[in-house]
Amino acid sequence: MSDIQSKIKELLAEVKEVAISNPEMLEAFRIRFLGSKNILKDLFMELKNVPNDQKKEVGLNINELKNKAQAIFDQFKEQLSTENESDEFIDFSRPGEPTEIGARHPISLVRNEIISIFERIGFGVSEGPEVEDDWHNFSALNFPEEHPARDMQDTFFVETGEREMALRTHTSSVQVRVMENSKPPIRTISPGRVYRNEAISARAHCFFHQVEGLFIDKDVSFADLKQTILYFAQEMFGKNTQIRLRPSYFPFTEPSAEVDVSCTICNGDGCNVCKHTGWLEILGCGMVDPDVLIASNIDPKEYSGFAFGMGIERIAQLKYRVNDLRLYSENDVRFLKQFKSAL
Ligand code: PHE
Repeated sequence: MSDIQSKIKELLAEVKEVAISNPEMLEAFRIRFLGSKNILKDLFMELKNVPNDQKKEVGLNINELKNKAQAIFDQFKEQLSTENESDEFIDFSRPGEPTEIGARHPISLVRNEIISIFERIGFGVSEGPEVEDDWHNFSALNFPEEHPARDMQDTFFVETGEREMALRTHTSSVQVRVMENSKPPIRTISPGRVYRNEAISARAHCFFHQVEGLFIDKDVSFADLKQTILYFAQEMFGKNTQIRLRPSYFPFTEPSAEVDVSCTICNGDGCNVCKHTGWLEILGCGMVDPDVLIASNIDPKEYSGFAFGMGIERIAQLKYRVNDLRLYSENDVRFLKQFKSAL
């Protein structure tokens, strides 16, 4: 009897003093005290030899030992698993991994700026197809049949079977569509991509981007055109910007003009960029030719209007000093990254 009692004591002491520092020791402990052939089972076997009046006490002692072993096992198991976690300790004070955000394309930046400048004086935005028919790109705009711009040299024609189609050479085609589908007053700008059959170089490309504007109402005059262009130039290039109009020719406007702004770099004093003239050409414009109004069912006796058109690349070139047109379509990340701060 005292044998079993002293054995229990011994084991209880062993359980209480045990120090487990790794999973292997924990497993050995589990097998010894809690496994399917654990040492306590032997004790229970011996219980039948214990005199009846002591059975209860010895039984309780064995149970106490069993509970103690279970508690110790749980405690070390918990301890070891948190130690494991701490191997992958996350340092919340570490600086974060930077997330690289993209940049808007300079053409988009300038296009959006042009749109917002004209929206402030009531212009809406209209868009149209890039594959266009002859009527909207040329005929309705008063291009004579033999006009060189229709030549294979400048225009990309598209074979469609029935009708002859082309990649639009300007977004004036969108303005024809707006005139056909709405009644004056019309105040709209049409941004978009256009195509011309040019050899690709630093100064020319087979596609580029335009914003063209159209204003049609009663009594619209050349003075309205000049003031609108001046407003645009000063919003885009600064309050001190001046404009200069030179007589020009477009089939769809009469009179027509080309507009220069005072050089954004030397303010008109003369430098390399303006080739020492003090001026930089930015757009073409004019009063809408009455024949163009008639072609779109607008009565020129009642209405008059002006139109203008500019290349977005050209404006971007002046704004960001980019001298090679090819950079805009090569999508070199080193180039594009530089416009991040312009967002
Ligand atoms: N459509 C002309 C071009 O592409 C620009 C322009 C538009 C000129 C409107 C005058 C009036 O060159």
